[in-house]
Amino acid sequence: MNRSNQQPIGIFDSGIGGLTVAKALQKNMPEERFIYFGDTIHLPYGDKSADAIRYYSIKISKFLKEQNCKLIIIACNSASSTAYEMLVEFFEGEVIFVNVVDPLIKEVIRRGYQRVGVIATKATINSSIYSKKFKVHNPEIQVFEVATPLLAPMIEEGFYNGNISRKIIESYLSNADLEDIDALLLACTHYPLIKNEINDFFKGKVAIMDSIDVVHQEVDQLLMDKNLKSYRKSGEDLFFVSDYTTSFENTARIFYGEDIKLSAIHIWGNI
Ligand code: DGL
Repeated sequence: MNRSNQQPIGIFDSGIGGLTVAKALQKNMPEERFIYFGDTIHLPYGDKSADAIRYYSIKISKFLKEQNCKLIIIACNSASSTAYEMLVEFFEGEVIFVNVVDPLIKEVIRRGYQRVGVIATKATINSSIYSKKFKVHNPEIQVFEVATPLLAPMIEEGFYNGNISRKIIESYLSNADLEDIDALLLACTHYPLIKNEINDFFKGKVAIMDSIDVVHQEVDQLLMDKNLKSYRKSGEDLFFVSDYTTSFENTARIFYGEDIKLSAIHIWGNI
């Protein structure tokens, strides 16, 4: 397939949490144009089966491919951990995919942490993706995976940096498995919003890491290697959702840090 550096980059998530990744990319790669798709009609993915998430991911990737994207970023840990390999196989040679798991794994290894906690949705934790990958890359690293399913909806409802969020965060992080870790991976694209609260819980003694700090480096390197890096922005960024409500648009501001216009697109068909 012929690709050109002026084509946009596709980004998708179950909903609007992946906008934290979109923002980090837009900030670090201002010459690139982005097309975002939030599958708000099926949100949350964290409670769905791996099969359902794979099916959604294929359909969304087909849509982003039709939008002429040169590369697609799976800005959702639940989809990255259950669907990435299948997507690579399904679209072999046609689409370049980047997931949000591998860049974080590489960074942990680079920094030399040995006892690593992971918090994420049930779908991500049930996939055991982090323990499986660390086992392959460095079996010495001990991994402690804990499902924290209330955190994503809590943040979406605007409960962060307050008493309620502190109590819920405390109750999850007091898990004995996380007692002696040296790094904690925020393996959900919603969690950058509660990074400070998590840091407070550990009193700064544990390295709190999330993919928004590292994914753009991975994307940048990949585009360089493939000679697909843009040096001049070719148009506006677009933000699509499969189900539109004003509440989604208001919440989008929380994740993106500024007002954006969401447009509904019916990739699941009309009645
Ligand atoms: N953004 C999703 C993730 O990173 C979590 C939200 C959901 O469950 O859909 O896993």
